[in-house]
Amino acid sequence: MTAPGTVPQASYAVYPSLRDKVAFVSGGSTGLGAEFVASLAAQGVRVGFADIDEPGAKALAAQVREQGHPEPLFVPADIRDVDALQGGIRQVAETLGPISVLVNNAANDQRHDSAEVTPAYWDEAMAVNLRHHFFAIQEAVPGMRALGGGSIVNLGSVSAHADFTGIPAYITAKAGIEGMTRTLARELGPDRIRVNCVIPGWVLTERQRTLWFTPEAAENVKQAQCLEDNVMPADVARMVLWLAAADSAMCTGQKWVVDGGWM
Ligand SMILES: NC(=O)c1ccc[n+]([C@@H]2O[C@H](COP(=O)([O-])OP(=O)(O)OC[C@H]3O[C@@H](n4cnc5c(N)ncnc54)[C@H](O)[C@@H]3O)[C@@H](O)[C@H]2O)c1
Repeated sequence: MTAPGTVPQASYAVYPSLRDKVAFVSGGSTGLGAEFVASLAAQGVRVGFADIDEPGAKALAAQVREQGHPEPLFVPADIRDVDALQGGIRQVAETLGPISVLVNNAANDQRHDSAEVTPAYWDEAMAVNLRHHFFAIQEAVPGMRALGGGSIVNLGSVSAHADFTGIPAYITAKAGIEGMTRTLARELGPDRIRVNCVIPGWVLTERQRTLWFTPEAAENVKQAQCLEDNVMPADVARMVLWLAAADSAMCTGQKWVVDGGWM
């Protein structure tokens, strides 16, 4: 998916350092995750991805195969289940080879009212939006260390920087990801493992279009962004590719914002 008025796909960067690498993407069946899987595969990366959406995963794998790129490996796993997630990462490493790129992407931005949030709901929101980032990194790091380095990309959100309401637990989790990025970048730097946080603005995925992107919301986005085009999944994927590639070798511990200049 590319924004209207943007240059043709063939004009964008190719990263030779990514060819034949192995990547793992959580929540890769649909939305931004699917764009990351397809974009990495188009660079010659062998990609494994976890999700609970099996039909979406199959459709994506077929689409990538038909485009002539390495078919991604789907490992069904609910990322709230740490054993299943870590088992999925191990399965990808055993099948495709040592993982040098990890994209922690899965999330659920279900709206919730502060007055109605229970402790159980809160814990659930942390499990689906925050906790799995840490445990995926914990599983992937020994392999990256053995390889002599790696690149970890965590997905944050513009919502932790703007005046959004109606998703307080999600926003808290997204803000936490930024802190996790900083401390783990420091901890893992001596192993040449880079940890960065990509912060998308409001991205027009199918889910956003269907659930939340009303004409009023579209108008608000226009007002908030410096650039008037909507941010598309491909715009965010290009940032992820650059952070995964050797081109960003000396960049770690940072936030990379792709939001059309949200103010
Ligand atoms: N779309 C946006 O506007 C936007 C804005 C800011 C940040 N982000 C961030 O970008 C990332 C991707 O967002 P998106 O809009 O593509 O999300 P999405 O909801 O469209 O897709 C998320 C994917 O994760 C999967 N998933 C959900 N729960 C899961 C679970 N328990 N186990 C395994 N897989 C699960 C879903 O099936 C889906 O394939 C998220 O981290 C999100 O917070 C998105």
